[in-house]
Amino acid sequence: MPGVDKKGTAKLVLPDGKEATLPVLVGTEDEYAVDIRSLRADSGYITLDSGYMNTGSTTSAITYLDGEKGILRYRGYSIEELAEKSDFVEVSYLLVNGELPTAEQRKTFSNQLTRHSLIHEDMHHFFAGYPPTSHPMAVLSAMVTSLSAYYPDSLDRNSPQELHITRLLSKVRTIAAFSYKKSIGQPLIYPKNSLRYGGNFLHMMFAVPSEEYQVSPVLEKALNQLLILHADHEQNCSTSTVRLVGSSGANVYAAIAGGILALWGPLHGGANQAVIEMLEEIRNSGGDYKKFIDDVKNKRNNRRLMGFGHRVYKNYDPRAKILKAMCDEVLVHLGVKDPLLELAKGMEEVALKDEYFVSKKLYPNVDFYSGIIYRAMGIPTNMFTVMFALGRLPGWIAHWKEMVEDKETKIGRPRQIYAGEKQRKYVPLEARK
Ligand code: ACO
Repeated sequence: MPGVDKKGTAKLVLPDGKEATLPVLVGTEDEYAVDIRSLRADSGYITLDSGYMNTGSTTSAITYLDGEKGILRYRGYSIEELAEKSDFVEVSYLLVNGELPTAEQRKTFSNQLTRHSLIHEDMHHFFAGYPPTSHPMAVLSAMVTSLSAYYPDSLDRNSPQELHITRLLSKVRTIAAFSYKKSIGQPLIYPKNSLRYGGNFLHMMFAVPSEEYQVSPVLEKALNQLLILHADHEQNCSTSTVRLVGSSGANVYAAIAGGILALWGPLHGGANQAVIEMLEEIRNSGGDYKKFIDDVKNKRNNRRLMGFGHRVYKNYDPRAKILKAMCDEVLVHLGVKDPLLELAKGMEEVALKDEYFVSKKLYPNVDFYSGIIYRAMGIPTNMFTVMFALGRLPGWIAHWKEMVEDKETKIGRPRQIYAGEKQRKYVPLEARK
């Protein structure tokens, strides 16, 4: 395992008096793990860790995250520096290939993304078949799965990865914009090769055939930053899903579609939509956010402060810090005054001083402010999670690639502790009560 050293052993004393001696591993950032891979074979015991709160599923060289200190780095580069100095195409290359591209590599990569942006014309019929009420995440996941039908070479595990990766990075952007156009009944706008990655997406989202569309450099920069902030977050729910699906040998489109579906939930990527819905609900019922926070603290109706809390961050999410500052900049530039921003800031201020949130180490996460920026950019609420998926795509791909290239990869197959009925006799229908 490159980057991982052995550092002694740990002993586990089991109830039958047996002892299990387990190797201790340490990663490049001094993270320690007890390696239990031989535990069941040696002792018959398994470990139980619902929600995988303490379980490392893999070693990985992609993203480093320290939730206590609020650190996030992609391939060693800090998220703050990447968001300020890089763009999404370069970050995608970095995540997938491990290094920042040279000028030549960058040019080739950009050209490939430009050349692969169209989707098969027949796929346009799929968009027509969905009802207008369809959630764009349903459309996106189905379309990404369908890509495997159009590129059956992906079913061969030895087919060139690079081509599938390029197709995904380029076509998911087109599919995302098409699913939006479909939902508002406007004609689909084809990609334009003269535009850069982000500008091309904005063009496909907001242009109409009857008018010239100028890409705003401010919106393009904001989009790049948003996508960079979402680009990877190590073994989160959707990325672990991508790895799990991919570990069975399923093709990369299927694995990514799995990630999209896992992201959809409101406890994960769906939280950005849930935050805006929460803020709108508070505003529509008079704006009393202190009462809402009181409901959350007293767990009335199982309410949660959406956009707060994180499984790993027990400190301010560094992405939320960047987004909060960005929110002000983008809204001022666009001349947008959004009452939801004031509401969100008020709620954050109250929550950060409140014993309930302080004691549980609940801070704003990446989703707390991102929705407000997307709104100001003209992106509708039900598209927020699609935006997240577009940003997370290079991270998912990088993890899928790392997994298939890792000789130690095994099919993901957790165990369980059975807690059901013991063996019993079948009861014929007429004898059942
Ligand atoms: N509002 C109120 N209370 C909360 C919140 C919240 N947002 N988040 C956690 N808590 C409380 C829980 O009620 C629990 O309290 P208890 O100990 O009294 O029972 C305690 O904090 C621990 O919460 P868990 O749910 O056990 O923590 P977990 O690590 O499993 O959950 C999660 C993390 C799902 C992100 C959670 O904080 C949450 O639901 N947040 C709101 C949804 C959200 O914003 N999700 C986006 C996460 S970022 C991302 O995926 C991109």
